[in-house]
Amino acid sequence: MLRQKAVVLWLVGLSGSGKSTLARSLERALHERGFLTYLLDGDNLRAGLNNNLGFSEEDRRENIRRAAEAARLLLEGGLVTICSFISPTEAVRETARAVIGADDFLEVFVNASLETCEERDVKGLYAKARRGEIKEFTGVSAPFEAPQTPFLEVRTDQQDAEACTKRIMNALLPIVSQNR
Ligand code: ADX
Repeated sequence: MLRQKAVVLWLVGLSGSGKSTLARSLERALHERGFLTYLLDGDNLRAGLNNNLGFSEEDRRENIRRAAEAARLLLEGGLVTICSFISPTEAVRETARAVIGADDFLEVFVNASLETCEERDVKGLYAKARRGEIKEFTGVSAPFEAPQTPFLEVRTDQQDAEACTKRIMNALLPIVSQNR
C-alpha cells in the first residue's frame, strides 16, 4: 500500500546540534514526495513512554532501548522512521542497531562542535550545566562519543539546514524508493 521501503534514520548528536530541526525538515521533504514518516525524539518519548527515566548512563541506555523498540514497531508498520536522540555512546547506539537490525538502521551523525552548540544554547541548558544546575549534561559533564562509521555525517556548523537536509535526502531517497 505505501510503496516505500521502510528504514530507521537515526540522528545522533549533541543537544543543540540541530537534530530536531533536520528531523522536521526531512519529514517535510519526505511528505512532499509522498512518503509516510514518523518522528520519535527525546522530547516526545521522555514526556510519555520514557517519563520515568533521567540521564544517568543506565537511564539513557533504557531510553535508547525503548526508543529502538518503538522504532522497530514503526519500521514493521512500513514507516520511514526518524529517530532524534543524543544517543551519546557507541554502546547505546549498538543496542539500537541490534534491536532494529543493521540493514534497516541508518545512522546519521549531526555534527556541530560543542562550542557551536553551547553558543546556540537554544534551551539555555548549557548555561545551567556550566553553573552545575544540571548534572551529567552531555558534552559538559557526561560523555559524548562521536560515531566512527555513520551512514552519513552532516556538519550543521558549516552548512545550513537546507543543505544538510538535501545531503541526507540524496542518500535516503534511493533507499526508501525501492518499492516504487
Ligand atoms: S539521550 O542521551 O538519552 O539520548 P535524549 O535525546 O533522549 O538523550 O534527550 C536529550 C534532551 O534532554 C536534550 O536535548 C535536553 O533538552 C534534555 N536534557 C535534560 N537534561 C539533560 C542532560 N543531563 N544531558 C543531556 N540532555 C538533557
